[in-house]
Amino acid sequence: MSDIVYLNGKFMPVEEAHVPVLDRGFIFGDGVYEVIPVYSKHPFRLAEHLRRLQYSLDKIRIDNPCSDAEWARLIGEIIRRNAGEDQSVYLQVTRGVARRDHAFPKDVQPTVFMMSSPLVTPAPALVESGVACITAQDYRWLNCDIKSVSLLGNCLLRQLSVDAGAAETILFRDGRLTEASASNVFIVRDGVLLTPPKDNLVLPGITYDVVLEIARAREFQVEVRAVTEAEVRGADEIWVTSSTKEVLAVTTLDGKPVGDGRPGPLFRRMHALYQQFKRDHMRKAA
Ligand code: PDD
Repeated sequence: MSDIVYLNGKFMPVEEAHVPVLDRGFIFGDGVYEVIPVYSKHPFRLAEHLRRLQYSLDKIRIDNPCSDAEWARLIGEIIRRNAGEDQSVYLQVTRGVARRDHAFPKDVQPTVFMMSSPLVTPAPALVESGVACITAQDYRWLNCDIKSVSLLGNCLLRQLSVDAGAAETILFRDGRLTEASASNVFIVRDGVLLTPPKDNLVLPGITYDVVLEIARAREFQVEVRAVTEAEVRGADEIWVTSSTKEVLAVTTLDGKPVGDGRPGPLFRRMHALYQQFKRDHMRKAA
């Protein structure tokens, strides 16, 4: 069965979905996107993803082409039309098709595209072992809070870790931790969970919020504040979070062990709580 995608009002097999070459998503990377994890056929934190989509659209001045109710219906439909209980729904909105001109075109319809792939969360062995990460200077732009499809910086930075045989590239700007190429970052020092605040230098992760909520509810010591590069390099634990990675322990950084080189005790607790949270809030609802 080929994947069914959604493009501008119609569902169709992926092979039949085509976008004109003058689409501003293609020409300028002029659009925004969301990745929504789906557990037991239910989109996780849909309201929060739609709120972030609205924020991104507002920031780049595209009118939201759908109401939240319409998005919910379309997302429900794409989930239903694709196989698998657990999926990863990708949606993107671009400014639309127009003659190439940097200035915004008038009276164009945004292009709306949606697809779904199987949700591949880290295998148990990877959760057990943790992953290697490298570091790099965060040279992206100053609007990293917009979930923009202009991801060249992120792709170049991610490829550095691929080249090094690592799972992610953790980023520093002016001596401070921002995030990783496609995830948010938490560290643990002396039993305290630390992560940078949401600002224009990081993507406001939905998983980041879930992890903070769980941590606070379970009375972890939590500090949301600027985290220095030195604090990351000397951390007892480092975690990366995203909709597809969930929570993953980083066990080497630039080839050096993090803590004792194994996933730490707070990670183990958080990972178990995250899985519990999924079971309670998603699987049972299904
Ligand atoms: N990426 N930071 C960046 C730069 C990201 O690209 C992502 C997610 C996150 C985590 O956000 P969330 O918890 O909402 O998934 C942080 C998605 C998964 C992607 O681009 O595929």
